[in-house]
Amino acid sequence: MSRPRNDTLLRALLREPTPYTPIWIMRQAGRYLPEYNQTRARAGSFLELCRNPDLATEVTLQPLARFALDAAILFSDILTVPDAMGLGLYFSEGEGPRFERPLRDEWEIRNLQVPDPGVHLRYVLDAVGQIRKALANEVPLIGFAGSPFTLACYMIEGRGGTEFLGVKRMLYARPELLHTILDTNARAVASYLNAQIEAGVQAIMLFDTWGGVLSEAAFREFSLRYIEQVLSQVARSGNGLRVPRIVFTKGGGQWLELLAATGAEALGVDWTTDLGNARARVGARVSLQGNLDPAVLLTPVEAIRAEAQTILKSFGDGAGHVFNLGHGVLPQTPPESIGALVDCVHALSRRSS
Ligand code: CP3
Repeated sequence: MSRPRNDTLLRALLREPTPYTPIWIMRQAGRYLPEYNQTRARAGSFLELCRNPDLATEVTLQPLARFALDAAILFSDILTVPDAMGLGLYFSEGEGPRFERPLRDEWEIRNLQVPDPGVHLRYVLDAVGQIRKALANEVPLIGFAGSPFTLACYMIEGRGGTEFLGVKRMLYARPELLHTILDTNARAVASYLNAQIEAGVQAIMLFDTWGGVLSEAAFREFSLRYIEQVLSQVARSGNGLRVPRIVFTKGGGQWLELLAATGAEALGVDWTTDLGNARARVGARVSLQGNLDPAVLLTPVEAIRAEAQTILKSFGDGAGHVFNLGHGVLPQTPPESIGALVDCVHALSRRSS
């Protein structure tokens, strides 16, 4: 297999030189796009959209048809893994994800099984195959999973939008129980990511959305350690090509040195951390991905351009930057703002040769 025709993302993740700074957007296929909302309506619901490889392929490609993005990201969700473990994922309108059977009793935790991705997550692997075919190796396809700790947050609380007090109570009072969940999650995530790589994803990202709510000691013991476990078990290449691994701990800017030591090729950074400072701290160990505040995309093009320029300048010259937002695109974002951002990142970063 050869690298995609536009391999700027893979190069930047591996800290190789690129003619310009590549850009993709977290949640680039989503509710801010009218065509996404139409396809989701046809599917019936978000989950049915995830479970239908034809429609998941369709929405994965939608943002690429509009914008000069440098990567596609698999359309799915991090919570398909606990769903495959039998927790019963559902979405109630306007309230985000819920589980019918959150982990409540000790016996449920001890009985938790690592799902076989080839069986229980077949629909995701089928979507990966179809998306790769449809992309025709134009741009790389990013696969992903949730971090063991972030998945545990939803599995224990049964929903998002909480302060994760149930998780924290378990962490301080029954740490061995939380470790049991995290070890199972780490094995499940590693096997799922390996299945995605086998099915054709060309880079992977681990979303540690809630690691940043922990104390440093708890972060090391309950999130970082299991990110390391996952990375140690995930293939470093697929089809003879390196598969770079991006780790993103939202709110984890104070732990970049720890995260750089996990074995990841790249770290996601949110907007609370200055990219230039981040680079000075991690040096040549990893590349960096980020870090525009998604709220900037609600402002006029001149402001978007100015903020993009500030980020590019802050990173400075040299290889190892992937432009992205510091978190997912907001549903109220005008699609034209994404187009403007992509074009101005390309134009402002083009290296004169
Ligand atoms: O980035 C992409 O375009 C790929 C697709 C993707 C989705 N979710 C689609 C989605 C990815 C990578 C995710 C990751 C994800 N899912 C995370 C980690 C990243 C982050 O945002 O912090 C988390 C915590 C989840 C769990 C989840 N799924 C939540 C909390 C929600 C509701 C929040 C919301 O935006 O409504 C979802 C639903 C979801 N996942 C949507 C999409 C496009 C919106 C569903 C809809 O169409 O109504």
